[in-house]
Amino acid sequence: MSKMAAVVESGEDAFKQLFKFYKRRKPPPDFSDVIDFSEHRCTGKVVPLKLNPSAVCDAAAYRVGLHPARDWRAYGLQGYPGFVFISNPFRKGSQPFWIRQCLKTYPQKPNVCNLDMHMSLCDTQDIWQRSVHSLSSPSLPRRQEKSLLERLRWVTLGYHYNWDTKLYSAEHHTPFPSDLETLSQQIALGCGFSDFEPQAGILNYYRSDSSLGIHVDESELDHSRPLLSFCFGQSAVFLLGGTQRQDPPTAMYMHSGDVMVMSGQSRLLYHAVPRILPAPPALLSPELQNLPASTPPEQQQQQQQAPPSELEPVSEQDWAVCLRYIQSSRINVTVRQVLGAGQSFPQR
Ligand code: OGA
Ligand code: MN
Repeated sequence: MSKMAAVVESGEDAFKQLFKFYKRRKPPPDFSDVIDFSEHRCTGKVVPLKLNPSAVCDAAAYRVGLHPARDWRAYGLQGYPGFVFISNPFRKGSQPFWIRQCLKTYPQKPNVCNLDMHMSLCDTQDIWQRSVHSLSSPSLPRRQEKSLLERLRWVTLGYHYNWDTKLYSAEHHTPFPSDLETLSQQIALGCGFSDFEPQAGILNYYRSDSSLGIHVDESELDHSRPLLSFCFGQSAVFLLGGTQRQDPPTAMYMHSGDVMVMSGQSRLLYHAVPRILPAPPALLSPELQNLPASTPPEQQQQQQQAPPSELEPVSEQDWAVCLRYIQSSRINVTVRQVLGAGQSFPQR
């Protein structure tokens, strides 16, 4: 009997059991069934996927920090049509920009975050500025209170997801960040979606003991549009199940820079994140080389030959804070199209 069969024997459904199995601390679970796309091996259910690289212009990919699309390593999973896993398509030196956006820029107003729910507008005005001191001083004595950044759990963008009603609405909308829109559209183009419109974003911030329960993302009104997911920082075990809550899931690692696309028949599958794991050093450290914000004169010549990038350099001070945060945390960004072309919210 395989180890999984042994786990699945009790009364609970297969998804719940595997969720608990991977969440368990003592004793730690056996991770040997977790698919690792970073190993470039197409064994078991993993199949290499041919994307549509000519749809993505190299210069456009470069501007948002991506490798040319012909170099993206994309995989599918047997039995999950429409599911695409792109193993870290980011160029070296570009993840720091996106991490800084997730920690410093996107939590700012007019975007919405969990801290707004029980704090005044004035107190959540500048989460970053109010947190940098404690996060950049490793030698501070044990702090009484966690910084705002450490208490940040989610941020919503564009059409703001309502966690209570599980609805989006026309009334609760602010502009979707244009840099994240461009990044998402390049990924969508490579996956064959030429008219994807990023309209809503949910950022989840995970500590090492966080998890995300079993769910389906079905609040968007047009399910023919893909859902994109970007990961930064520490790694995670992701469980991808079926159309029924109890269907047994497939477990896979998500590492920093990985991108996942749920589309077609995989758009409405149950999924969950039972566990955050320390990133393997070889997969995180090289990605966190921040390109210098100011370049010494002798290197400037070389830099001028590189194509223009939209990624504003990350200052050394900002990067020190991001680095400290990301060393124990994970950030996930999901980007969604809520309405189909010409569609509007139903009258209530
Ligand atoms: C979500 C989600 C998965 C992740 O935000 O809906 O499923 O990897 N996130 O954090
Ligand atoms: Mn989800």
